[in-house]
Amino acid sequence: MSPARSMPAYLKIILMSLMAAGFLFGFLDIVIPLNFERLHVFLFNMTVGGFVILHYTRGEGRPSAGLLLYLALGAVYAVLAFFNRYGIALAAAVPMWAIVEKTRTGRFSFFPKNFFRNDAPVERKFHEAALLCLSLSFVFSTVVVMNTEFFHWFTLDKLKPDVFFLGFSFPVSLITMSVMFRYIGPDRPALHRLIENGIFWTINIGVIIFFVFIIFGLFAAEVAAASVLFVAVIFLFVYFLKYGAGLKQKHFLISGMVFLLFTAFTGLLYIPAKAMGMTPLPELLLKSHAYISLYGWNLSGLFVITRREDFPFGMNSWKMILLHWTVIMLAPAGKYVPAAVPFICAAFIVLLYRYFFAREKD
Ligand code: HEM
Repeated sequence: MSPARSMPAYLKIILMSLMAAGFLFGFLDIVIPLNFERLHVFLFNMTVGGFVILHYTRGEGRPSAGLLLYLALGAVYAVLAFFNRYGIALAAAVPMWAIVEKTRTGRFSFFPKNFFRNDAPVERKFHEAALLCLSLSFVFSTVVVMNTEFFHWFTLDKLKPDVFFLGFSFPVSLITMSVMFRYIGPDRPALHRLIENGIFWTINIGVIIFFVFIIFGLFAAEVAAASVLFVAVIFLFVYFLKYGAGLKQKHFLISGMVFLLFTAFTGLLYIPAKAMGMTPLPELLLKSHAYISLYGWNLSGLFVITRREDFPFGMNSWKMILLHWTVIMLAPAGKYVPAAVPFICAAFIVLLYRYFFAREKD
């Protein structure tokens, strides 16, 4: 353990509060008829997820002023975008993007040439891809906001900020995959490198192509791309089970991978369910998909990354994992049974607290 490099407590409290706020806002539409859903993505993925990726990349114990600025601007952006003040939100997005680019080009090259090098470790490729994806999410969402709000260059049903903000969901997935490959260990035979590169390209190209199909509303192509992603996720899961090192972190990453399998499964089923108008199944699938992907899979990854300097500590991983699964499986039901919401939110806050602060013997 190296407490000097652990994340400071005040920072954990800020991250925890932002995540809890995103989760609570997810249920607020039961009381106030407004769409709070995107706050999930802004607070959880763009602000907290982006910050953790940058902090991990820079390898600082105490974050620099630039990173704290990213965090503060992320919260401002979330509020402005929620009130549809996209024009002003862009003023926050530009410095955030500059901080991401400074970190990315400080650690990697401007052009991601590692992607094309056979000898570059795949954990490095996923790490670089996470930063590139974060940077591009700012660029594309900004262009789409400018199109929708001011210039109206293109008109397409799915070409709207809400869809493009989903890009912010993927950097945390990519950094978690980087960490998973790191725990597999450095000495892998050439065949493994080949398989790992196959997984890297299938997931990255697969997500980009899938996104293009969603934008153009190409049903059959969407199902095909989603099926390829589903198979790639199963493959990654089996590979990690077989070769992942026997560390305590592995329990949480395996639990995270099972969340990812459910993510891919619900995402895949959603497409035909929606096309066939099987109400209310598509809505239930999409809500489950959002909760499982963000607060299940992504949270597992964020936990392992933020507590990496504390492992292995005496926490009972299986008890934590059971609590995590209980909260995430019940969360979508809260949308239909309002009386359950206070309990679900309380359990989520307990989960966050334990993930950030659990110590020896907890
Ligand atoms: C691995 C395969 C995946 C498939 C097949 C899939 C599929 C889908 C589909 C079809 C949608 C609806 C898009 C639309 O028409 O607007 C969607 C939305 C979404 N996806 Fe995924 N997805 C996958 C992975 C992920 C991952 C890894 C994450 C996050 C880490 C994620 C987060 C989301 C979120 C937050 C939404 C928006 C939900 C909402 O509107 O409430 N997805 N996904």
